[in-house]
Amino acid sequence: MEDLDHLKSSLMDEVAAARDPGALEAVRVRVLGKKGAVTQRMKTLGGLEPEARKAAGQALNALKDALAGAIEARKTALADEALSARLERETVDVTLPGRPAPAGHIHPISQTLEELVAIFGEMGFSVAEGPDIEDDFHNFTALNIPQEHPARQDHDTFYLPPLTPDAARMVLRTHTSPVQIRTMQSVEPPIRIIVPGRTYRADSDATHSPMFHQVEGLVIDEAAHMGHLKGTLIDFCRAFFGISDLPVRFRPSYFPFTEPSAEVDIGCSREGGQLKIGHGKDWLEILGSGMVHPKVLENCGIDSTRYQGFAFGMGIERIAMLKYGMPDLRPFYDSDLRWLRHYGFLPLETPSMVRGL
Ligand code: DAH
Repeated sequence: MEDLDHLKSSLMDEVAAARDPGALEAVRVRVLGKKGAVTQRMKTLGGLEPEARKAAGQALNALKDALAGAIEARKTALADEALSARLERETVDVTLPGRPAPAGHIHPISQTLEELVAIFGEMGFSVAEGPDIEDDFHNFTALNIPQEHPARQDHDTFYLPPLTPDAARMVLRTHTSPVQIRTMQSVEPPIRIIVPGRTYRADSDATHSPMFHQVEGLVIDEAAHMGHLKGTLIDFCRAFFGISDLPVRFRPSYFPFTEPSAEVDIGCSREGGQLKIGHGKDWLEILGSGMVHPKVLENCGIDSTRYQGFAFGMGIERIAMLKYGMPDLRPFYDSDLRWLRHYGFLPLETPSMVRGL
């Protein structure tokens, strides 16, 4: 019995000293394994007197249980220790600033389009869309551009081969103006829309691309007049370029679908060959506009004695290039990531009127 007490206390010391599960297992095997100290003693029980056997058996079993319990407890303690050490080692300082993943960039056309939507959205305009492949009627005829009108050639239009000899001639739309027609044909006035979208002309140099983007505007109401046109476009120019007193000039012009028509110029200076938008000696043309021609209203089934309104159209690349100082149009479509990283915008910097775009 004494011998067992001694064994027990030395085993308990070993268990307490074990630093890892491997060491614990070694103790267990040495005691409880096939050739273990307790197992060996168990085998000798058979040779004892019943009384002594009972007592020795109980003592051995008690030792076995105590040891197994101690090993389990030590195991749990070691696991807790390991976990605490790991938690200590792997602490996260939540007060550190985040490390943003390398972000992609928003293309300047998308950004500019969002800016247009934000500005005109604030003025109560909604966004309308139409097809890129148009028929002759919507792209030209309904806009008061008759068959023989030179504008049809001026546009350097991409005509599509007819599907059948007598099918209507289809074109890649040369401007977003056909969506004026589609909207007036399908929606009762009052109408207040902008139409951003792709447009196509056979034209290609540093400032022209065969595919480019325009935004159209259309307001039809019983009392929409030239003053509204001017106010809307002056506000737009100043908000878009972020210059609250930007000079804006309306210059008489001609478009078949508006009467009267006006080209809109903004103030700029070109001193030292450097273009700077704002107060200056020069003017820069940025968009076309006018009061919707009564014939266009009638072509869409709108009573021109009751309704009137104004329209405008501009090139999105052009105003983006002016605002962001981009000299060449061609890289817009090159998908060169170096260009996009330089001229692009971060996804979270979405334009908003509240922040001044
Ligand atoms: N559609 C014209 C173009 O592509 C731009 C334009 C001018 C649109 C005057 C209009 C407008 O709505 O009123 O050159």
